Amino acid sequence: MMRKPFIAGNWKMNMTPTEGAAFAKKLRDALGQSDVRVLVAPPFVTIPSVIEVLRGSSIEVGAQNMSDQKSGAHTGEVSAAMLKDLGVKTVILGHSERRSIYGESDHFINDKVLLALSEGMEVILCIGETLSEREGGQLEAVLTTQVSEGLKGVAAEDMGRVTLAYEPVWAIGTGKTATPEDADSAHAFIRALVAKLYNEGVAEELIIQYGGSVKADNAKALLSKEHIDGALVGGASLSVEQFLPIVNFDK
Ligand code: PGA
Repeated sequence: MMRKPFIAGNWKMNMTPTEGAAFAKKLRDALGQSDVRVLVAPPFVTIPSVIEVLRGSSIEVGAQNMSDQKSGAHTGEVSAAMLKDLGVKTVILGHSERRSIYGESDHFINDKVLLALSEGMEVILCIGETLSEREGGQLEAVLTTQVSEGLKGVAAEDMGRVTLAYEPVWAIGTGKTATPEDADSAHAFIRALVAKLYNEGVAEELIIQYGGSVKADNAKALLSKEHIDGALVGGASLSVEQFLPIVNFDK
């Protein structure tokens, strides 16, 4: 089974609508044809201008988060319907910054996952351990909880619309990456877990991205590993010069 590589750029709280449009134009012109699935996830307000520029290109536009509620009195929140109206089909959920800075729990993230899927969207569900969890021998326990709680109630037939992003928290924005071997073994563990929760077929087709200081110079080593099917890129997704070689890791 060949899983199509999936590289996503998480812009986090960077790029105004004007900057995002200029960046998207540059990326579109530089990328040309690619066998890799490419997605950029701008901040909410930057999504429309980026979508406008990328109309007709193969680069997809996703969101970094969404509300767990459908509509109504939820000041400051953005709904699935609003994203879909813009043409956004994919949403990143459970990013470690949402978990650690904004207190999002597995249960809360699971509500968002179920809502996004019921709205027909695709999900990139982020999971990953902190340094103290890893050093305390908790890696597998943390991943087991985050995967099984995050996917609770998700039907096997909907798993084709789920990507998992394994992002060890200690590697995010720190310049420290997991070694390709350590990352691959975490990915293999996650895939085996999904096989247990669902079945071998679902696990075999599941795209598992690695995230945490992915750069041009380590992308190939990471993405060459058997269980690493893509990357969720933060810092290096903010420059075309840095992002393009990651997308083109196999060229
Ligand atoms: P980073 O961020 O590439 O800057 O480490 C990755 C992420 O948080 O998704």
